[in-house]
Amino acid sequence: MNKQPVSRRNFLKIAGFALGGMVLGCSGLGFLATRQPEVELIQMQCKGDTPETEKTLIIYASKCGSTGEVAEAIAEVLCDLGMDVDVKLAEEVTSLDGYNRVIIGSAVRMGNWLPAATNFVKAQQTQLAQLPTVIFSVHLSNLGDDEAAREARAAYTAPVHELITPQAEAFFAGKMDLARLDFLSRMIIKAMKSQNEDKRDWDTIRAWAREIAG
Ligand SMILES: Cc1cc2nc3c(=O)[nH]c(=O)nc-3n(C[C@H](O)[C@H](O)[C@H](O)COP(=O)(O)O)c2cc1C
Repeated sequence: MNKQPVSRRNFLKIAGFALGGMVLGCSGLGFLATRQPEVELIQMQCKGDTPETEKTLIIYASKCGSTGEVAEAIAEVLCDLGMDVDVKLAEEVTSLDGYNRVIIGSAVRMGNWLPAATNFVKAQQTQLAQLPTVIFSVHLSNLGDDEAAREARAAYTAPVHELITPQAEAFFAGKMDLARLDFLSRMIIKAMKSQNEDKRDWDTIRAWAREIAG
């Protein structure tokens, strides 16, 4: 068979297509690996019997929804006490006008609050300094009552404390739902031998809500 040498031009063409294909393939796989199943995040409001000016905003950041359910439980306690409460997503709140107090919550991932919550604090830092503000974190490691666990928990919100001075802070045990994770996170979590579990203690959460209401 008569083999024709590949011209430089054709070689570059073939190499270009191959490289383009590889880049597209890899970025496509990367996109799929980090694509999360759809999770509906709670937003709600209740009208209390306080004057219009007494309004509490609960904002939160969540990936899999469990922090939103904690925010909802806190809101229900405040609503039962007759308060006006809005529960909103951190990424959707751009102004604190009309609110008298703010409760900020975030899920913890890789030792940090989610960027949406931290970005909210950064963006509203000046206004938050004028308003009573409390914060809560929802997480699954370092749940113990020993010094090491307390220190590790405190590290989760150390960057937040550099921006604001909350009047109260809580750390709540959270929930793991593998079906709600993207492929990459699921692999990480499985490698860490974690499984589905819901450690949220609703009595503790509601008790804290009553405490901060006062
Ligand atoms: C990828 C990943 C990383 C996590 N990293 C931490 C962590 O560093 N510390 C911790 O205490 N919990 C960690 N968790 C547990 C979550 O904080 C916990 O599942 C929480 O309830 C999730 O909240 P969400 O359902 O609102 O997203 C992690 C969970 C996942 C899926």
